[in-house]
Amino acid sequence: MTTKYLLSEDQIPRAWYNILADLRSPPAPVLHPGTKQPVTPDDLAPLFPMALIEQEMSPEREIAIPDAIRGALALWRPTPLHRAQRFERALGTRSHIYYKYEGVSPPGSHKPNTAVAQAYYNAQAGVRRLATETGAGQWGSSLAFAGALFGLKVTVYMVKVSYEQKPYRRSMMHAWGAEVFASPSDRTQAGRSILAKDPSSSGSLGMAISEAVEVVIGCHGGGSNFSGIALPFARDKLHGKEVRLLAAEPTSCPSLTKGRYAFDFGDTVGMTPLVKMFTLGHEFMPPSIHAGGLRYHGAAPLVSKLLDEKIIEAVAYPQRACFDAAVTFARSEGIIAAPETSHAIKAAIEEAKRADQEGRTRVILFNLSGHGHFDLGAYDAYFAGKLEDFDYPQEAVERSLRSLPAVAM
Ligand SMILES: Cc1ncc(COP(=O)(O)O)c(C=O)c1O
Repeated sequence: MTTKYLLSEDQIPRAWYNILADLRSPPAPVLHPGTKQPVTPDDLAPLFPMALIEQEMSPEREIAIPDAIRGALALWRPTPLHRAQRFERALGTRSHIYYKYEGVSPPGSHKPNTAVAQAYYNAQAGVRRLATETGAGQWGSSLAFAGALFGLKVTVYMVKVSYEQKPYRRSMMHAWGAEVFASPSDRTQAGRSILAKDPSSSGSLGMAISEAVEVVIGCHGGGSNFSGIALPFARDKLHGKEVRLLAAEPTSCPSLTKGRYAFDFGDTVGMTPLVKMFTLGHEFMPPSIHAGGLRYHGAAPLVSKLLDEKIIEAVAYPQRACFDAAVTFARSEGIIAAPETSHAIKAAIEEAKRADQEGRTRVILFNLSGHGHFDLGAYDAYFAGKLEDFDYPQEAVERSLRSLPAVAM
């Protein structure tokens, strides 16, 4: 039986898929934070190069990938699709479990897929420095790596709790030439205003295979890895195919399972455009769990729209159960997953168990969004019994939702 399904480099896609072309209705517009009117390309121009703005608004189903980006992606793509035979045996399930392994990229996750493209278009537009935020450190490492490929300087504001927990993520970003600051920092107006209110703030983060896939799973923080694995299958579903698409999030930051579908800011201070998304309120402060990349109050607008229309589903799990799942996986498949990814592993186990109870054999695909080599402190805490679960109460969510901006649409 094949363990790894590998494509050749010339099979790296030549176009990105844009689900906007297949949606039943257009997504809600993005609103200007001041006027609360739909943003125009000119409003976004101070933040993003025009090529990215045009892409964001494009109705085209396929958007050509420039050769320079395909060349950079070829450093690690195509990523392998594994059949998790040993994991299946460890679970004793009759279902077939596959995972797409994104941990083979230089920074160790799915994030450079978009970081490389964003750095390329910025460099093409003459931008010389990029500033970004990072939660768990994966996004910051990915942009630092991409910046190095296209000659851009990169400044990373890293959520303070991760900055302190993961010094080697910082070293990695330094190795690619980026500068890294703990966030909130005193270098920006936004950071200074947060520190003025709370000086000790710990920060938060605002294939086809031969068998028919029946459940597609990804963990969910902001929505990028889930979208990457699930949206091509969502296209099939919108065209009538039976497939379940499941986003797995932490019970301590339950934006999809307990949040409201409303217009909100993407950041904590309230400076970004307003987007319609499942949100816990931009002032929501999740507890310091070890899956730092899942501590975000909102969700991607497209993922939110698909959830609202019931094209996708969402589940939430507490962190200890997710680490149990990740350890079972590491002891069967060998890969030590990022704490974020452990949520997808937990969901895959639950789906396999449910199929067994129903006496069915399902084909389950999950995204192994990144390895956990810089998260071993979290594994240490788990083995030492120091991890705590937190189920965010609905009343506390309701309180935090009071910070939602009033919007007429
Ligand atoms: C390995 C890994 N998986 C998943 C996520 C969650 O982000 P997203 O939902 O945007 O994929 C992160 C974010 O830091 C991550 O590092």
